[in-house]
Amino acid sequence: MQNLFSHLPVMKQDINNLLVTALDGIYLDGTVGFGGHSGEILEKLKSPGKLIGLDADPDALQSADQYLSSFKTQTKLFSLHHINFRYFPQILDKLEITKVNGILLDLGISSYQIDNAEKGFSFRAEGPLDMRLNPNSELNAKDYLYSVNENELGQIIRDYGEERYYKKIALSIVKRVKENKMNTTLDLKDAITSVVFGKFQIKSVARVFQAIRIHINDELVALREALVQSKKYLSNGGRLAVITFHSLEDRIVKRFINDESKTCVCPRELPICACDTIPSFKWVSRKAILPSEKEIEENPRARSAKLRIAERI
Ligand SMILES: C[S@@+](CC[C@H](N)C(=O)[O-])C[C@H]1O[C@@H](n2cnc3c(N)ncnc32)[C@H](O)[C@@H]1O
Repeated sequence: MQNLFSHLPVMKQDINNLLVTALDGIYLDGTVGFGGHSGEILEKLKSPGKLIGLDADPDALQSADQYLSSFKTQTKLFSLHHINFRYFPQILDKLEITKVNGILLDLGISSYQIDNAEKGFSFRAEGPLDMRLNPNSELNAKDYLYSVNENELGQIIRDYGEERYYKKIALSIVKRVKENKMNTTLDLKDAITSVVFGKFQIKSVARVFQAIRIHINDELVALREALVQSKKYLSNGGRLAVITFHSLEDRIVKRFINDESKTCVCPRELPICACDTIPSFKWVSRKAILPSEKEIEENPRARSAKLRIAERI
């Protein structure tokens, strides 16, 4: 079935091959987006299998619903819910589901969200300074920039954007806010490009947009919370698959699974293990799985993607 929307699911084949291990199982897609990955999962499932899709963006859910409903024989097998994935246990509890066979998180935002200037994620087109994944959440990017001081903003740009010119960029943004000249995505871009020059200028812009987006949506804390909860809700043999697009997210996922797959946490000095640690996950692939050259050529958005996948034991 052809997806009606512009977003191409990243590493679709890997997800298809590695995530679904029980055709009558229950799968949670925490970032259903436009239903690209969910469609692949749904197509494989057989009753009483279920796909539960979540997204913070109601527009994404509406499109996913349209797309997934086109799988006529499967429509009873899926349900979609407007919620941040950090709260996925609330949905499972409501559906009286205690265990799932797989959880997928395909992090970040979709091509549709980037291309839709109204959402304020893109510095290529003029739009309001919004950047909220969920339009009902309180803090948008503009309100944030009008409330933050230079030091705090600098730290956010440094920590969530890994941007070396964080100090002068923060100063430039705060200066424009004081002049009441910070209203659109292009105002923000301009504040950055007026103080950072050279061939990597646009990378700095991308990093600052990323930092503000991560901060106002509390993305890293949400990720960490969902990972911790996955331990409780995955059945034995169930799999956790996370596709990340930058090193901050990837580090969190890698560290979580490494910690949860340890068989011993004794101090090195101890000659024999005395901790009796029971690991909760094992790696399905110890190395991150990367998109092929061909996929990157067809879908440049895939170039920074990394898939990490682990099994609950
Ligand atoms: C990369 S897209 C997913 C695309 C999807 N896998 C597909 O194939 O169409 C990421 C989606 O996750 C959503 N999202 C990001 N963080 C979220 C969160 N914490 N909770 C719920 N949805 C989130 C975004 O709104 C976006 O629709």
